[in-house]
Amino acid sequence: MQFAGFTLRNNLFVAPMAGVTDRPFRQLCKRLGAGVAVSEMVTSNSLLYGSSKTRRRANHDGEVDPISVQIAGADPAMMAEAARHNADRGAQIIDINMGCPAKKVCNVMAGSALMQDEPLVARILEAVVNAVPNTPVTLKFRTGWNRENKNAPVIARIAQESGIRAIAIHGRTRADQYMGAAEYDTIAQVKSLVSIPVIANGDITTPQKAKFVLDYTGADGVMIGRAAQGRPWIFREIEHFLRTGEELPPPLVTEILQVCRAHLADIYAFYGEETGVRIARKHISWYTKGLIGSAAFRHTMNQLPDVSAQLAAVDEFFGRLAEADTRLRYEEELPQELAA
Ligand SMILES: Cc1cc2nc3c(=O)[nH]c(=O)nc-3n(C[C@H](O)[C@H](O)[C@H](O)COP(=O)(O)O)c2cc1C
Repeated sequence: MQFAGFTLRNNLFVAPMAGVTDRPFRQLCKRLGAGVAVSEMVTSNSLLYGSSKTRRRANHDGEVDPISVQIAGADPAMMAEAARHNADRGAQIIDINMGCPAKKVCNVMAGSALMQDEPLVARILEAVVNAVPNTPVTLKFRTGWNRENKNAPVIARIAQESGIRAIAIHGRTRADQYMGAAEYDTIAQVKSLVSIPVIANGDITTPQKAKFVLDYTGADGVMIGRAAQGRPWIFREIEHFLRTGEELPPPLVTEILQVCRAHLADIYAFYGEETGVRIARKHISWYTKGLIGSAAFRHTMNQLPDVSAQLAAVDEFFGRLAEADTRLRYEEELPQELAA
């Protein structure tokens, strides 16, 4: 796929998720089949550039191209400065966040709250596009700010006219937060109105759903967030299904143990051991969710204090799983009587 001047391996995008899509997770998803992984959002408040969190979020050492960095904010000049700052530090694509309903972001009238003020949207987009003439800018937003005001088509047109190179749309309004099901009619409508690439996002959890959303909306690509947590190989599963119409078999337990171990090693190296152990807990929980015996495992694992205990527990859990079955099986796929 051609996207913002880059030739991508495919049309599968990792959704930006604060606290999740750090560099280790992005690298892992790309290794397992994602075409693009957008960074966690980076603040446009330059006062925070020096904080270790913001610096870590802007660290792309060893990351596979293209490096897409998301910025958030509501002030055109600050957003322009943030775009320049990140482009100077290796961002090859600047993504603007108008999709996040988080209070922290929306209270300062950023994220999806911005969609209420269309003239301000235009000013922000133009300021950012002009600030980084050599770096493509993309935009992520929702279908509207509530169900009565689904102005995604207007925002999409503003984006196209402002020089935005591609858009990603989450099929919910800001008021929906994460409730209800994502809808794809508005995304299909937007796709029919603009000529820049449109990426569809929201509730894509299986290869079949990815194909359905692509067919239904006519979108150029799909973006996957929560379904990739603890299951980063979903990208190769979708890639294979879209190419062949067939499902890959579930992965081998031994492979997933290796994937998980390599991921944990990256986390410990990136954050240091103390923070790394804490960050690793949520990823281990996601990896094991739905697998046999995982509830009891997670309870114990969450209390383990250090790297060696955490790794030993992971080895033991997957070791036990491998004895029961060579392939990864989730409990919900097992007959009731076998589910622990
Ligand atoms: C933990 C979490 C953090 C998120 N952080 C961001 C963010 O920083 N920027 C953003 O544009 N969207 C953010 N989102 C929204 C996702 O990018 C995505 O639009 C949403 O989860 C719907 O896609 P999904 O159903 O595939 O998860 C976040 C979502 C989650 C679950």
